[in-house]
Amino acid sequence: MATDAGRESQLSEAQIAVHWREEELYQPPASFVAQANGADPAIFERFSEEHFPECFTEYADLLSWDKRWDTILDASRAPFWKWFVGGRLNACYNCVDRHLEANRNKAALIWVPEPEAEATQAVTYQELHRQVNEFAALLRGFCDIQTGDRATFHLPMVPELPVSMLACARLGVVHSEVFGGFSGAACGDRIADSQSRILVTMDGYYRNGELIDHKVKADEAIEAARKLGHEVEKVLVWRRHPGQYASASPMVPGRDFFVDELIGEYRGRVVEPVSMPAEAPLFLMYTSGTTGRPKGCQHSTGGYLSYVAGTSKYYQDIHPTDTYWCAADIGWITGHSYIVYGPLALGTTSVMYEGVPTYPDAGRLWRIAERLGVNIFHTAPTTIRMLRKLGPDEPRKYDYRFKHMTTVGEPIEPEVWRWYHEVVGKREAVIVDTWWQTENGGFLGSTLPALQPMKPGSCGPGVLGILPTIYDEDGNVVEAGSGKAGNICIRNPWPGIFQTIWGQPERFVQTYYEKYCRNKKSTDWHDWPYFAGDGAVQAADGYFRILGRVDDVINVAGHRLGTKELESASLTVDEIAEAAAVPVIDELRGRAVEMYVALKPGLTPSKEIEDKVIAAIDREIGKIARPKSVWIVSDMPKTRSGKIMRRVIASISNFADVGDVTTLANPEIVDDIRRHVQSEKVARGEEPRELTPEEAAEIKAFGQVE
Ligand code: WTA
Repeated sequence: MATDAGRESQLSEAQIAVHWREEELYQPPASFVAQANGADPAIFERFSEEHFPECFTEYADLLSWDKRWDTILDASRAPFWKWFVGGRLNACYNCVDRHLEANRNKAALIWVPEPEAEATQAVTYQELHRQVNEFAALLRGFCDIQTGDRATFHLPMVPELPVSMLACARLGVVHSEVFGGFSGAACGDRIADSQSRILVTMDGYYRNGELIDHKVKADEAIEAARKLGHEVEKVLVWRRHPGQYASASPMVPGRDFFVDELIGEYRGRVVEPVSMPAEAPLFLMYTSGTTGRPKGCQHSTGGYLSYVAGTSKYYQDIHPTDTYWCAADIGWITGHSYIVYGPLALGTTSVMYEGVPTYPDAGRLWRIAERLGVNIFHTAPTTIRMLRKLGPDEPRKYDYRFKHMTTVGEPIEPEVWRWYHEVVGKREAVIVDTWWQTENGGFLGSTLPALQPMKPGSCGPGVLGILPTIYDEDGNVVEAGSGKAGNICIRNPWPGIFQTIWGQPERFVQTYYEKYCRNKKSTDWHDWPYFAGDGAVQAADGYFRILGRVDDVINVAGHRLGTKELESASLTVDEIAEAAAVPVIDELRGRAVEMYVALKPGLTPSKEIEDKVIAAIDREIGKIARPKSVWIVSDMPKTRSGKIMRRVIASISNFADVGDVTTLANPEIVDDIRRHVQSEKVARGEEPRELTPEEAAEIKAFGQVE
């Protein structure tokens, strides 16, 4: 623990006044307003605090229910909120079956393979229905999977992923998709944590022009789960090219099965959708937190699906006639909510792309948009920055027209926003900057595009029915327009909020609610603000600017990485005695990771040890987490009680002021580390630009929650 005095000075630094240029407002084009779903300002009144929680029945009414709910919000076990209690529905029925009558032959999914020579596939609602039913029949018949069981997927961006998700939803089986870029070991952890009986994977997929071996990760995953005491019964392997096996890893007899060899037996089979209670879990989505163990965020069926359908309608402005493309990966929450469940619940056409946005060149995405007639486009700042760098004029070469664009996952710099608006959106598209998290199911902060102007760099106010507020460390409200940063919280529950952390209900309460709870016995929602773990500032006009995480999570290119996970991965290397992960400002990825490691006594630093640390992180987490640098230091700066001061090394990595280090147990080490790291960075040409005040505040605050 940091000393109280030390803690206080860090906190006041975190609450510094933040000054930035007030950006100009951009009005939505009249052509957009004229056709928008949310164009009548009366909607704000319908969703005002006075009408909470009834307002959300408007979202639930977008769905088809087998039985209507009795209670909208049950708070009797606060903060384990229950929405639409007594209601019954099936998520797959809502995303597939109910569209058949009017839109049987409309494309539900349009899948674009990475190789440009390979044909684009349109999966109609009819075809999706057939595939989902056959796979559901296989899951039930061949795997004997039951309602309530868990199934882990480690699937890339192929139509088999939504097919597998919807097949589980049809059966009431809880799916848990692990992002394809995660390592086998990371997948194994999540299999064991969720006690999944089966793993669904694919032999290989295309990335950057290569057909990469993916099945090999399944073997590592099964092994990792076994070490944690969990045996997987069956591994179902979809093949990227049915009939041809793209992996070098052997199929294990009795455990591994090719789906394309089994599915014929279920041809034409229809499985009745299981009518599920609104409160039944639909899926788990794992995310990183302050401790090493990943958190399985458990999302509900009725509340979640209502929330993503409603926000897709009003904030993504999806009409049934639109061609909508969210270029995220379904392995993240954005893809679950805004590629699969939200758009399909509304019966639209949702585009999926298999590969890398810049393959084979920086015009790829715009060619896809032109060819498919995409008119709603959704991506992350990291992709926008990369495309701006590699192909600043590419969008002008293609004849597509977006009416609407989204940015999600990280703060977007105003100049990057302006390029998105002028060049990608051709000044004809509205932009929504949507702030939310894996835990939230759907958007929390955004402008309602036809009714609220855009402001570059700010997500906007709370979305319909969401009441955000900023609190300081003592729970006082930080007023809008005060110029002060604080912790953004949501005062009320909403239908998309996750139900719990799978198997860790105490951690759920402690991480998200304990900090600002007014009375732990209370069953009044007003006493339970949700702590989002992000710093924010609210301008006088009510718009929020999100500053980034206040916990030990580093947001690399929109991926949340826990410092503890990075550190435990580094500690699997024999030579390493101590490890600390810190964020460094990165022009393309937003933040990158730098690892500081200290060796066991008597060992000499070497490039070989650095490489071992990188290999360990690739193996334990995945290449997405690969650090930019590994710094071997003789010791870490520590408090007298022995805690590593991450903010000090984070400051060194970012060439920022380290602040007062006199209270450290070993203040002399700070200068040694600074000389070593900074001279090496200067030699490599990695000296960063000067930090903005917000970035400086973030670095200073890093690690303060411990
Ligand atoms: C950050 C992604 C600024 C934030 C949907 C949050 C953002 C974390 C924005 C959640 C945004 C997300 N502006 N920051 N529009 N959207 N973030 O769980 O720090 O992968 O807490 O969910 O990303 O990341 P997650």
